Amino acid sequence: MKNKLVVVTGGAGFIGSHIAEALVEENEVIVIDNLYSGKIENIPQGAKFIEADIRDYSSIAEIIREADYVFHEAAQISVEESVRDPIFTDEVNVIGTLNILKALSEGSGKIIFASSAAVYGENKNLPLKEDYLPKPISPYGVSKLAGEHYVRVFYELYGVPGVILRYFNVYGPRQSSAYAGVISIFMKNALKNEPLVIFGDGKQTRDFIYVKDVVQANLLVAEKERANGKIFNVATGKETSILELALKIIDLTSSSSQILFAPERPGDIKRSVADINEIRKLGFEPSYSLEEGLKETLEWFKKWKYF
Ligand SMILES: NC(=O)c1ccc[n+]([C@@H]2O[C@H](COP(=O)([O-])OP(=O)(O)OC[C@H]3O[C@@H](n4cnc5c(N)ncnc54)[C@H](O)[C@@H]3O)[C@@H](O)[C@H]2O)c1
Repeated sequence: MKNKLVVVTGGAGFIGSHIAEALVEENEVIVIDNLYSGKIENIPQGAKFIEADIRDYSSIAEIIREADYVFHEAAQISVEESVRDPIFTDEVNVIGTLNILKALSEGSGKIIFASSAAVYGENKNLPLKEDYLPKPISPYGVSKLAGEHYVRVFYELYGVPGVILRYFNVYGPRQSSAYAGVISIFMKNALKNEPLVIFGDGKQTRDFIYVKDVVQANLLVAEKERANGKIFNVATGKETSILELALKIIDLTSSSSQILFAPERPGDIKRSVADINEIRKLGFEPSYSLEEGLKETLEWFKKWKYF
């Protein structure tokens, strides 16, 4: 992608800042973010920053109308917060997405929507395929599913080109907010030689994907017209248990941290792994192994001023 006007909502956050960084050299990149969980220092040099809330149509519509591509990452991302406050989550994740789609329907750009494996809920029929009936088990999952339907309906009804990406467990540098994923929490604790706490027996599994591979998936579907109106899992297709992950991180950081086991958390799913054949058909292949991704992530955590 070159010489395009690209908007990244949530570009001050973890994944959005990596998308903005990958595009900023050859395109005009505009970040829209209200800094709810994002940080201004995450925004790459050269990107223009508009501090705005996606719930407020009038403050974002003009710029979205002009865009060639909108990578829509802004969201209330915490499942726990969505259980506490489903209405706030709906306003950000559903009305926010609808505002972007409405503005796009008055322009000519394409949306690449960050959805989540949370839409599948507790489906034991693994690996998870895009055409399985979604049955989210949290307001967060419901809000992402509603966003997916709006993206599809705006494509079918108003011709707004859009692609839905269902991210699995993304990790990497800059994932550091209060709701950060298990890898960043384990890494921080391992570097401080503090215990790594596992909820349950540690046999629960996740499909971890490195953030740079998620960026590649975004860029790929953005430029593929045949991806429009479709849903793709963004994952590696590999299952890793939380205990295995904790041991890998302790080993990698040469930490003296202990592993502690706490009671299972209600609502935690047991196993999660994606079928990635659909996105493979477009030419996607994750290029980072878990070990390689963890090493790069560790380099960033070592330099991070928190330590
Ligand atoms: N990290 C993962 O493992 C994962 C997995 C599945 C899906 N996702 C999705 O990917 C996207 C990016 O997630 P992330 O991990 O980078 O989270 P993040 O919290 O780092 O990024 C979200 C960004 O959105 C911004 N934001 C929140 N509410 C906003 C609002 N009302 N208006 C404008 N900006 C707002 C935040 O300030 C933040 O910068 C989200 O849509 C999330 O649901 C992430």
